[in-house]
Order: sequence, then structure tokens, then C-alpha cells
Amino acid sequence: MKYLIFGANGQLGSKFIERLTIDNIDYIALNHNDCDITDINSVQKVIKSFKPDFILNCAAYNLVDEAEKSSEIAYKVNQKATQNIAISAKEENAFLVHFSTDYVFDGNKGKLYSEKDITNPINEYGKSKLLGENAIKNILDKYLIFRLSWVYGNGKQNFIYKFNEWSSKNNVLNITEDEYSIPSSTNLIVNAVQKALQKNIFGLYHLVANSYCSRYEWANEIVKIRKMDIKLNPVSIKTFNLPAQRPYNSAMSNELLSNLIGPIPTWQEDLKDFLLKN
Ligand SMILES: NC(=O)c1ccc[n+]([C@@H]2O[C@H](COP(=O)([O-])OP(=O)(O)OC[C@H]3O[C@@H](n4cnc5c(N)ncnc54)[C@H](OP(=O)(O)O)[C@@H]3O)[C@@H](O)[C@H]2O)c1
Repeated sequence: MKYLIFGANGQLGSKFIERLTIDNIDYIALNHNDCDITDINSVQKVIKSFKPDFILNCAAYNLVDEAEKSSEIAYKVNQKATQNIAISAKEENAFLVHFSTDYVFDGNKGKLYSEKDITNPINEYGKSKLLGENAIKNILDKYLIFRLSWVYGNGKQNFIYKFNEWSSKNNVLNITEDEYSIPSSTNLIVNAVQKALQKNIFGLYHLVANSYCSRYEWANEIVKIRKMDIKLNPVSIKTFNLPAQRPYNSAMSNELLSNLIGPIPTWQEDLKDFLLKN
């Protein structure tokens, strides 16, 4: 079995590289310089020449606030390029695994979101990711789309990295208490994807840890596990006056997926495991 990874330098892409290397699985991993996925000719060329059995599309435009101002690039990468990959996967009969987001929801449900819930993104990033999902559904009969949330791993574009940076410069931090979702490590995500592929399942699934929290609760758990000497102030997200609106509570249920692949750890267990190793 051969794997092709797009987004090799990203936090999820690099975790897949680590795992496939350990498992001695044949793969090719491409970063933005190797292949710009917004260019269909480049995508077709690599897929045609490598002939992968599986494509893991970990590439995306993830800058939620910047996407409000420069939405064109968000749609180019999250919608158009996803369509490019789906078309090319179909041509070469490769199975596509793609990643989406909890930001396809507006956050007003008041309960965990299931795969059957109606989407209603409230920012450009969420809208562009939803159009990416739809492109895949329109082109391919069989695929895996995993909606993720609050992803962290070895990279800089995540809350844990930023929290470490802020706490190295400040003893008091203001953290939002009115933003709820589910932190999930790249390790947890890769474990679940591998199990899903072994089970030969397809379709759209919510892939998150168990249980949910506010960002303030997440930060408190980091402080507790790391035994940090720092004070956290719970504040409203309105304090930060961010360009992009965020869903108030976009926490998703992983029930559909965990019924098929087995239990998924809680976000607290997952976080502890990550912090002890990093
Ligand atoms: N991070 C989160 O909290 C979060 C939450 C929910 C869902 N997700 C989804 O999870 C998936 C993985 O996210 P992640 O956190 O691993 O992302 P990431 O660390 O930001 O990595 C994304 C990668 O995509 C590459 N990329 C961007 N435009 C490209 C292009 N035109 N051609 C080729 N590569 C391009 C980037 O390369 P350059 O930097 O060189 O452009 C980057 O290495 C994404 O689908 C994301 O939408 C993430």
C-alpha cells in the first residue's frame, strides 16, 4: 500500500510522516514547494506518477482571522484545491482521506454536534472548508472526511504552542471562557485514521477526543499538568476583537466513529499524554 501526503510540513502531515515511517509503510510526502495543490496540473502529475492507494490531504489554509480579509486564498486552497485533489484521485483510483473542521457549524446548538446536523459556517474559513467537503462528495463515491477541532501537535499554529509563548513572557493571561470545543492531538487523530482505514469504512465522521471544554478550562488543565506558576483570567472572546467570528460551542460527538473503531480517549488523557512527551 502506498500513501501520498499533501501538507507535509503541517502539524498533522508531519505526524502522519512520523507514523508511516515507524510502520515502514511506503509513502511520499509533499510540502507546498513540492506541489502547490491549487494547481491541478501539479496535483495530477504527482498522483499519476506515484500512483498512491491512499491520499492524505493534510494541506489547508488555516488562518481563520486572515481568511476574513483575504478570503480568496482560503477558497483557493480549501475549496478549489480540494476539488483538484478529488478529481485527480478519481482519475487514478486512489482513496482520498480529507480533513475538515468543527467551524462548519454556527455553534448555537447547545449540545454536541452529530454528522447529521445542519451546517451553517459563520466565518470565511468555515465556509471555504464546507465547500471543500461538498466538492469531495460531488466527485467521489467513496472517501473519508474527518471533521477535527482544536488540533495540536508539534507545530506553531496551535493553542498549546501559543500558550507556551505567552506564558514565557507573562505571569497573568486572559483566556476565553465563552468558546467551547474539543482539543485533539495529532497523535489521537492519526491513531483513529489508521483504525478507520483498517476497518475499510468511508463517509464523513467527527474525529475528536471525548468530552469537551472551554479554552479557559483547556488552559487550566495545561497549567495543572505542567505545574505552572501562572494566573489565568477567564474573559469573553469579545475582549480580543478578532476579525473572524468563532462559533460559541462547536463541540462535536465522536459517537459514530467510536462505534466503528473503538473508544477514543478524553481530551484530558490525550493532553496529558502529549505534555508528558513534549
Ligand atoms: N489546526 C486546527 O486547530 C484545526 C482545527 C480543525 C480542523 N483542522 C484541519 O485539519 C487539517 C490539518 O491541519 P493542520 O493544523 O495540520 O494545518 P497546518 O499545520 O496549518 O498545515 C497545513 C499545511 O498546508 C500547506 N499548504 C497550504 N497551502 C498549500 C498549497 N496551496 N499547496 C500545498 N500545501 C499547502 C501549508 O504549507 P505552507 O505553510 O508552506 O503554506 C501547511 O504546511 C486541515 O485540513 C485543517 O483545516 C485544523
